[in-house]
Order: sequence, then structure tokens, then C-alpha cells
Amino acid sequence: MLVSRAIKRTRVTAMLESDKIFAGSIPENYDRYMVPLIFEPYAADIARRAASFSPNAILETAAGSGVVTRALAPRLPPGASYVVTDLNQPMVDYAASRQPPDTRIKWRQADALALPFDNAAFDLVLPHAVIEHVADAPLYLRECARVIAPGGHCYLSTAPYLSFAGAHLPRLKLQLPLHLMVGRRAAFATFRFLARHAAWTLKEPANENSFIKAARRGQDKEDDLLEKVRVTRLRRQIADAGLRIVREELHATATVRRMPGGLARWLRDSPLTQDALISNMEYVLTRGV
Ligand SMILES: C[S@@+](CC[C@H](N)C(=O)[O-])C[C@H]1O[C@@H](n2cnc3c(N)ncnc32)[C@H](O)[C@@H]1O
Repeated sequence: MLVSRAIKRTRVTAMLESDKIFAGSIPENYDRYMVPLIFEPYAADIARRAASFSPNAILETAAGSGVVTRALAPRLPPGASYVVTDLNQPMVDYAASRQPPDTRIKWRQADALALPFDNAAFDLVLPHAVIEHVADAPLYLRECARVIAPGGHCYLSTAPYLSFAGAHLPRLKLQLPLHLMVGRRAAFATFRFLARHAAWTLKEPANENSFIKAARRGQDKEDDLLEKVRVTRLRRQIADAGLRIVREELHATATVRRMPGGLARWLRDSPLTQDALISNMEYVLTRGV
């Protein structure tokens, strides 16, 4: 009994250890709980903006359970070629199973750090909510730059890791930025403890929160934030990868947006405050300086 429980715990902990294995019920749970909560509101907007480039050859990297794919595919022209990839085959399979038959889409397992595509093969590359999950962000950006055709675009969105949105941590009912007060590692440990022993202190409903769900299964949620995104750091990484920023949109939190215009802009644009107060960053990138 003890042994079988230990084996079960080891097996499931291994599955949660990183983004590298998204198997079993994880794609479906990710799609059911995380996607509506975090990504769906953005997907329609991303699809509308991505389609405005009138792309013909599109690559989606780390597509997850396919929320952007489902929003973008109906907006693409009949002759488009849309390659949808993820590191994890179960994610690719799950995303494909949610999509109506569409001969324009090619589903493929692919590591975004070593894209199996020719140089300049795509006129649009989509990295939505990906860069924070890859082990080598500069390499990831270089791979995106390599496969973009001259004149093509990369549409990247993410959030700084010090903000509530980018921290990938639960929130306390009492709105305290624990990760800013005690540091990420201690905040992570605190949330693990609270998820297990005092889930009522957390804002997210238990069935939508991976900390609480893991805690209830007797597991520890692993930290899957591999890249610590910051505004100035990302801009530098973009330039170093040979990409140029065509458009940058930094969206501050609702609290900041309610402040007087000048103060809100200062909080959003100052390197002192922006990493904690920006909830979404969107970039249109192209090749070259
Ligand atoms: C936040 S999720 C998916 C985000 C997705 N683009 C969306 O909009 O829902 C991050 C995804 O990155 C994938 N991933 C992590 N490392 C990767 C890599 N090196 N190459 C490709 N995909 C990777 C994971 O399998 C996971 O599906």
C-alpha cells in the first residue's frame, strides 16, 4: 500500500516536473481549467490581430491545447498553410481532437528550441504565452527569427514574472503580492502549504487551481516558470536575436489604469515599477534591425 502510494506519487510528480511531459489527463485539464481562465479572452484578440497580417504560411509554436488555433483557423484564407506544434505529443493530439477537420492545418510535435523547419519558411510565427515556459529564451527567439521570411512577422505575447498575471502563482483573497514581499521561492512554498492546509485563503476556486488540485492529490506543484520575463530584458533579448520591434503594447493592471493618466503612464513605463504592474505585453516583431 505504502509502496504503491509512493510509486504513484513519484510517477505523478515526474509528470509535473516540467513542461516537458504533458500527458494523461493534463492536456484536457489544462484546456478545461487554465484556458478559459487565462487564455481564452486573449485568443480571440490575438487571432484577429494575427489574421490582419493576411499570412499564408503560419507557424504556431508551443500551441498547448490549441486555444489560439481554434480562434485563428477560421480567419485564415482557404489557401493558407498552418503548422501547429508543441513539444508534447499529447498536447498536439488533444489540440487536434478539438479542431474541426481542416486540410490547411498540419499538426506536429516540435521542440521550439530546435524548430524542424527551413530558414524563412513562414510569414507569421505565433508565440503566445510561451517564452516564459522555455528553458532558453534567447535561443527560442533566435529560432523564431530564423524561420520568419523577410517581411514576415512574429506576434509574441507574455507577462513580466513580477506581475500577478506573469507570476503563475495563485492569489490570496487578501490582495497581497506575496511574491514581491518574500520572493518567488518562498511564495511558491507558502502557496503549496496554503493549497494543502488552508485553500480557503486563496482567491482561485479549488477546481481551477493547479496548486490546490495537486495538493489534494498529495502532490507538490512544481515551478514551471523557466524564463523570468522582464520588460527591459525581453527587449534586449529580442534585439540580440536579430528581431526588430514593429509594435510594443504594454498593458498595465486595471488598478493602474484607473489612476490619473500621467501617473498611470509613469507607473507603466518606469523600469522601477513596470515589471510588477504590467499584466500583458504584446509585440509585433520582424527580422532585422
Ligand atoms: C502555457 S502553455 C501553452 C500556451 C499556448 N500557446 C496557449 O496559448 O494556450 C505552454 C506550452 O509550452 C509547451 N512547451 C514547453 N517547452 C516547449 C518547447 N521547448 N518547445 C515547444 N513547446 C514547449 C508546453 O508543452 C505547453 O503546451
